[in-house]
Amino acid sequence: MTLDITTQTLAQLGAATPEQIASCFAEIRARFDLEISRGSTSGDWPAFTAHWTGRKSGVLTRIGDNWLKPAPPSLKKIVGQEFQKFKAHVESTLEAKRKEIESVSQESAAARDRIDLSLPGVERTLGTQHLIRQAYEELVRIFVSIGFSVVEGPEIETPYYNFEALNIPEHHPARDNMDTFYIEGTSEPHLLRTHTSPMQIRAMEKQPPPVRIIVPGKVYRRDNPDATHGYMFHQIEGLAVDTDITFCDFKGTVEYFVREFFGPNTKTRLRPSYFPFTEPSAEVDATCHVCAGSGCRICKFSGWIELFGAGMVNPAVYGFVKNGYDAAKHSGFAFGMGIDRLAMMKYGVTELPLLFQNDVRFLRQFP
Ligand code: PHE
Repeated sequence: MTLDITTQTLAQLGAATPEQIASCFAEIRARFDLEISRGSTSGDWPAFTAHWTGRKSGVLTRIGDNWLKPAPPSLKKIVGQEFQKFKAHVESTLEAKRKEIESVSQESAAARDRIDLSLPGVERTLGTQHLIRQAYEELVRIFVSIGFSVVEGPEIETPYYNFEALNIPEHHPARDNMDTFYIEGTSEPHLLRTHTSPMQIRAMEKQPPPVRIIVPGKVYRRDNPDATHGYMFHQIEGLAVDTDITFCDFKGTVEYFVREFFGPNTKTRLRPSYFPFTEPSAEVDATCHVCAGSGCRICKFSGWIELFGAGMVNPAVYGFVKNGYDAAKHSGFAFGMGIDRLAMMKYGVTELPLLFQNDVRFLRQFP
């Protein structure tokens, strides 16, 4: 530690001539320049500046107190001039240094933050649409292209919409076909809808004729699970009602759909069936997608595969709906397809549970 000459007065230092005074200033200035050039500033800039320019005990203050103030009048002027020169030197040097430090730290911050666009990005593998979703989108595409619009409805229904208003009274045997989940503890009886047909009623109640809708959604039945049954599956309901819809429109629409969905060479067949809410009712069959109608294990050697139930809307249903629907004036058709079933047929899946287990090895086969 060198003795700091600014803690002593000029007289104590033995400086009494202008030359001696100048050499005192030269000494302190040399020390300042040395420290600056050594880079002593970079470690602790605030401490460094406080040491030289701090108001209370900085070197400049000490020079003012110890050298300038006690100087005899004959030397005051020369001490004052030297002091001003030194002070200006210290201040301008520190200011230049401050700017330099600032720009360096800005540069390094900029370097730190710079985005390197050439770096490879974080790759996220995109998922694919589930098979049921793929079939659903295809169904929607086909029906929207011929003027149907999509509506959805509640999965928790009342027996009225699920059965009664569809012309299925309380003790009708058609209820037996649909083992139903009833919900306990609600003030009014509720159930999980067994089909999407309740939306026929709700849609017509909401919208006077004409109506042309499809209704996709989940339905629930107390079936014993096996290769083709589960307690939940997906349906898509169709309903078209207007003043002059005939059985030909029904048949034409169904045939158009089958060709669009399964391919242009697929043939369609209507087989008599029974649903309380359609009259006449039909099962729509298509030529087997595996053997193209020649007979195989999949179609049980009949050449035909059952696709879905359908029919002309039973006039009795309009009586439940009212809202401008008049059995004497209006007619229409309805159908109810199993989306999962159609997906399985289209993509050759034989086990329904595969659609819900979400094993990626299965899902990856249908990108
Ligand atoms: N709701 C019937 C079922 O689930 C299918 C169907 C819908 C039949 C519309 C005719 C008309 O089995």
